[in-house]
Amino acid sequence: MDKVYIHDKVFVPFIPYEKISQIIDGVADKINADYTRPGHDYSCPCEEDIPVLLCILHGSVMFTGELMQRLSFPVELASMKLSSYVGTSSTGVVREVMPLSTDIKGRPVIVCEDIVDTGNTIVELKKKLLEKGAKDVKICTMLLKPEVFKGRDKLDYVGAEIPNRFIVGFGLDYDELGRNLKDIYVLE
Ligand code: IMP
Ligand code: MG
Repeated sequence: MDKVYIHDKVFVPFIPYEKISQIIDGVADKINADYTRPGHDYSCPCEEDIPVLLCILHGSVMFTGELMQRLSFPVELASMKLSSYVGTSSTGVVREVMPLSTDIKGRPVIVCEDIVDTGNTIVELKKKLLEKGAKDVKICTMLLKPEVFKGRDKLDYVGAEIPNRFIVGFGLDYDELGRNLKDIYVLE
């Protein structure tokens, strides 16, 4: 892993893909333990019981894709695009840039986030999903910056904690670039 140059900034290696993969294994094990039920298979006529796995675009594409391969129970994939970041900092205003792709009324929802920083996004989102009639909303995040967000109890599944630094790669961007990097890098 070498340095990467994105726009005007330099990023250095931080979390290699092998470690990211282990983090996702850990999250998947916890979710599987909570959701896997005997007889809950793909022919079950109980659609309302099948959890909606909600990918928050674009940051969570890689995480959601890898996580869902590890889930041992049926899920329905949905997505929506939210935006709160400009450059390397949060604006505090969460905008719904692309609406939810599925009706979640009466359904259990598992939100897949790439990273929780100030927590604005997931707090707003949970409120919105409950207003839209979700039966239950669980928040799953690959990474958490605990120095910034003091509400860890609001998160149901956390892959790993990182210091309050700006990162890119594995879905995360700096002004839309860097998402395709397989490993995670940190601002130098
Ligand atoms: P929050 O609303 O402050 O918790 O921010 C959450 C969103 O901001 C995440 O879903 C990311 O899209 C983005 N974000 C937070 N920290 C970083 C970072 O270090 N790099 C890239 N994007 C980040
Ligand atoms: Mg995001």
